[in-house]
Amino acid sequence: MKKIQFQLNAKPTLTDFNTLVLPVFTHGQSISAAADFGVNGLIDALDKQDDFKGKTAQTLMLHHVAQLDCPRLLLVGMGDQEKLTEKGYLSAIQAMSKTLENSGATQVLDTCHLATPKGQNQSWSLYQNSLILQRSFYDYSHESRGEHKAKNPHLNQVCFMAEDNTAHQQSIAQGQASAIGMALTQDLANMPSNFCTPTYLADTAVKLGQQAGFKVTLLERAQMIEMGMGSFMAVAQGTDTPPKMICIEYQGGAAEQAPIALVGKGVTFDTGGISLKPGASMDEMKYDMGGAATVMGVFQALAELKPAINVVGVIPATENMPSGNAIKPGDVVRSLSGQTIEILNTDAEGRLILCDALTYAQQTYQPGLVVDIATLTGACIIALGHHVSGVLGNDQDLVNQLLEAGKTTYDRCWQLPLGEEWDEQLKSNFADMANIGGREGGTITAAQFLARFTKQVKWAHLDIAGTAWQSGANKGASGRPVPMLVEFIMQQVNK
Ligand code: BES
Ligand code: MN
Ligand code: ZN
Repeated sequence: MKKIQFQLNAKPTLTDFNTLVLPVFTHGQSISAAADFGVNGLIDALDKQDDFKGKTAQTLMLHHVAQLDCPRLLLVGMGDQEKLTEKGYLSAIQAMSKTLENSGATQVLDTCHLATPKGQNQSWSLYQNSLILQRSFYDYSHESRGEHKAKNPHLNQVCFMAEDNTAHQQSIAQGQASAIGMALTQDLANMPSNFCTPTYLADTAVKLGQQAGFKVTLLERAQMIEMGMGSFMAVAQGTDTPPKMICIEYQGGAAEQAPIALVGKGVTFDTGGISLKPGASMDEMKYDMGGAATVMGVFQALAELKPAINVVGVIPATENMPSGNAIKPGDVVRSLSGQTIEILNTDAEGRLILCDALTYAQQTYQPGLVVDIATLTGACIIALGHHVSGVLGNDQDLVNQLLEAGKTTYDRCWQLPLGEEWDEQLKSNFADMANIGGREGGTITAAQFLARFTKQVKWAHLDIAGTAWQSGANKGASGRPVPMLVEFIMQQVNK
């Protein structure tokens, strides 16, 4: 993806740009920037003529305005100043971005960060502007799209009319890096499972490692059987496609510093196995590696930002298929931790691969904290919809930090409880535990299962079944929750 050249300049020269972007509130509530450029009268007139009332996310591109030393003026509606919400602001910036994309603008002076929503500051707005603008360059252009003509964005340079200081620079850099990370996440999750196999995920990690200097280690089926990953290998035994454990290490901190471990569910296609899923929308189960794709996207962002911290990514990757070799309901397997599992439903496969990855991550890397990311339960979509990810964990401070990172980036999550009552739902007469806990509280019992493998470490689980993918007309991967995790990691650096 082509990178936008972002700049900061509190006193820019308008003739250096071919497009000026101004935010406009309703009822002539203008901001100081508009006054500085001498177009307040024009904005008033447009309001009186009912041509542009500054409604949230309304845009108007004007050409060759007489009093302006710049061929394009883009007005972006922000609605009522008193009522500007974060969501309203983001929709306005998205509309701005779309309008710029459909114009010939190449060098833009953007002042929309001056209209910050309540409770936010300019750093936040700069972050969101750079993220949304860079994100508008994303285009799923895999060869399998055939005739699809890839986007060729002409926007080159965006200057924010703000002071050039470290805080502002970091906000812009983080917004841009998050967008670049999201693009990788989206590419991987959008890609059909006949292309995006565990081997493809592994190759992508190796390539990323070569570019960015990450150490990448791959485990193969024979090794993992030998090591005793009976749970992960039980899911993988139904497919002829080789499973992989993909480990990526980023070392930005001191060698002895315990890393953050990110563990991402990498089911490249989830048929349900012998507990076969119904046919409707089954195609969408190609995004059941959304957790894995998120981990890769975060590492892509780390490659850009190079924070002083250590992070490891651990990705168990396999297909979940029905076959003559597939696991069957009632089969009992022994996990890497030694605990045995009765597999009552082969469609609850995510937790089966994650439990071994969680044990492996702890044994191999002694992380200071672990966050797993998984498209784990349909129940999470029923509980929370598509707007927030579910978060559950055994350490409230860690959960709070994730909630906070979600708020800051507007890539939000919402906490669900854990507790002994739900844990009891996993009782099995034939093994240490069953892999399902009934329909009630499905997201919680799934996390409760994982909690049995993370007792010795600070751990949180993100259920992204609802947030990693959009259905409907804009069907496709969302790139979430890369922004939230990048923010979380950046916050950990300063600890
Ligand atoms: N990958 C699915 C969860 C899922 C469903 C993600 C819909 C995204 C959209 C997971 O492997 C699964 O099948 N979970 C089951 C668990 C059940 C059998 C306890 C589910 O949610 O139905
Ligand atoms: Mn499943
Ligand atoms: Zn699944």
